[in-house]
Order: sequence, then C-alpha cells, then structure tokens
Amino acid sequence: MTTIRRFCCNDLLRFASVNFDHLTETFNMSFYMTYLARWPDYFHVAEAPGNRVMGYIMGKVEGQGESWHGHVTAVTVAPEYRRQQLAKKLMNLLEDISDKIDKGYFVDLFVRASNTPAIKMYEKLGYVIYRRVLRYYSGEEDGLDMRKALSRDVEKKSIVPLKRPITPDELECMNESVGIRWFNYLLTGSSAFLFCVYSLFFYIIFTLVFLMYDAL
Ligand SMILES: CC(C)(COP(=O)(O)OP(=O)(O)OC[C@H]1O[C@@H](n2cnc3c(N)ncnc32)[C@H](O)[C@@H]1OP(=O)(O)O)[C@@H](O)C(=O)NCCC(=O)NCCS
Repeated sequence: MTTIRRFCCNDLLRFASVNFDHLTETFNMSFYMTYLARWPDYFHVAEAPGNRVMGYIMGKVEGQGESWHGHVTAVTVAPEYRRQQLAKKLMNLLEDISDKIDKGYFVDLFVRASNTPAIKMYEKLGYVIYRRVLRYYSGEEDGLDMRKALSRDVEKKSIVPLKRPITPDELECMNESVGIRWFNYLLTGSSAFLFCVYSLFFYIIFTLVFLMYDAL
C-alpha cells in the first residue's frame, strides 16, 4: 500500500536512490531545508511498505497579483514504481493546495525540452507550454515553462502562450516586482540612461541644499 504524507527532514537521508535518475534535479541540503521550512504544504513523499521512498514532489507558492501561483520545483518517481499514477497523485495534491488553500491563479513548472515522458505526463494532466526559455538548463538545453490554470483564473489568461522564446535573463526580470526591476535597472541600466537619472538626482539634492542654506 502506498502512503502519501508530508516530507520531513529524515526523508532527506533516504531519498538518494530516487534522485539517481539523470532527469531528476538534485539540490544541496540547505535548498531542501529552505523548502521544508517555508512551504511544507508543497513537499510530499510517497512511501511503500517498509518505508521505501517511491517518489516525491517539492514546490512553492510565489508571485504577485495575477502572477500568484504554485510552482513545481521537482517531481520524481523511482523507475520501479512508474506508470502507477503516482506522479499524477502528487501533482494533483500540489495543484489542490495551490488552488484551494493558497488561491493561486495557476501552477507552473520547467521541464527539459528533451524530457518527452515528463512533457507527455504534464500534457495529460492539463498543462500547456506557456513559453520556451532558451538555454535554461545546464548543457545549454532549452526549458519549457508549462502552466495549468486554476479555478481563480476564470478567463484562463495565465496560460495564453508567449509568441516568442525568452532568455533566462528576461525570465528573472519578469519574476521581479516593478520596484525591484527599477532598482536593478538603476544599478545595471544603460550608461546614458543612468547619467540622466543620476544627474537629475544630484541636481535636486544640490537645489534643496542651496535653498536650505539660503533660508538660514
Ligand atoms: C515523469 C515521471 C515523474 C512520471 O511518473 P509516473 O508516476 O510514472 O507517472 P504517472 O504514472 O502518474 O503517469 C500519468 C500519465 O502521464 C503519462 N506518462 C507518464 N509517463 C509516461 C511516459 N514514460 N511516456 C508517455 N506518457 C507517460 C501517461 O499518460 C500516464 O497515464 P497512463 O499511465 O494511464 O497512460 C517519471 O517518469 C520520472 O520520475 N521521471 C524522471 C524524473 C523527471 O523527469 N521528472 C520531471 C522533471 S520536470
């Protein structure tokens, strides 16, 4: 009998065999611990009798406004337990939490463009390819950003595919809030633009200082 329960710290010492698969992303311990601490609802393990790890899913909830969404960071099932609807159950669980508890607009995930079995599974579960991210993975492989709209996205706006592929830099920009985007731009923007912004800034400061000095 399969038990699906919340992932706990001890499972980190027992799930290595599942991670041997080359298509399973493996992260460092602090990364897993951060997920466990911040998004425990999004981290589940499937166990066989004898406490053998069959597979797991980890994810998070993030974004702002209509970009508020659940994200699947990793889902994997050990080869001997595949095609038993286990990944489907784990995915359904995460989707339910994003939909009913966190009221997200959609669930998304990234998958290697060559990972046909996983893409087929996501399509079967109702995910569509939202955009292609060029050279997203190590080895310069493209990633597919796949999405499934949740009940809060009544008009299904979140899954209208982008018309062109994007680069990982653009992805980071799109994920940032407008404030952070501007702050980053002030640090790294084009020199002509920065020259104007900084000149204006110093002009205002000097004028204020001058006016205050004059008033005294
Ligand atoms: C992708 C993966 C998680 C699927 O796990 P699973 O437990 O075997 O999947 P399920 O049994 O829940 O499959 C549900 C449906 O997805 C589709 N599917 C799953 N594996 C498939 C495959 N190898 N080829 C074609 N379709 C597949 C099928 O439609 C399946 O339904 P069916 O068996 O009734 O036809 C598993 O193969 C795996 O761990 N792969 C390595 C890690 C990985 O690629 N993770 C995803 C990274 S983004």
